[in-house]
Amino acid sequence: MHQYLAQASLMARWGVVDLAERFGADAQDELDHQRRIVDVMVATGTPFRGIDVPPPRLGRTVEAILQVDRELEVEVIRLYEEAASYCERFHHHFAHELFAALLDEELHHLADIDELVAQVRSGAGLHG
Ligand SMILES: [Fe+2]
Repeated sequence: MHQYLAQASLMARWGVVDLAERFGADAQDELDHQRRIVDVMVATGTPFRGIDVPPPRLGRTVEAILQVDRELEVEVIRLYEEAASYCERFHHHFAHELFAALLDEELHHLADIDELVAQVRSGAGLHG
């Protein structure tokens, strides 16, 4: 979530308005994911643990920034896949449903990022 907030802030500074909005919306989506995970944890009495979240990483160009996002999304997808199959194996139905849904959303998000990378590379469609 902080990754996208930092990027939204940088895009606003660079005057790339549409990407500032887009990254802001991505941050909202990630917050929504966190909220849904917390909801299931509270509902199932799952204890909270501290988690290490890597600090936001920026880049010198839009393409470099999108590559960072891509790496992070691939890692998140791997984690959700692992979580979904773990919960399925141990019959944690609510949690399995949640992680399967989040996995699906992140796969779409990754496809969106790839589309954006292709757009940036072709020099089309991004303006401030
Ligand atoms: Fe995402």
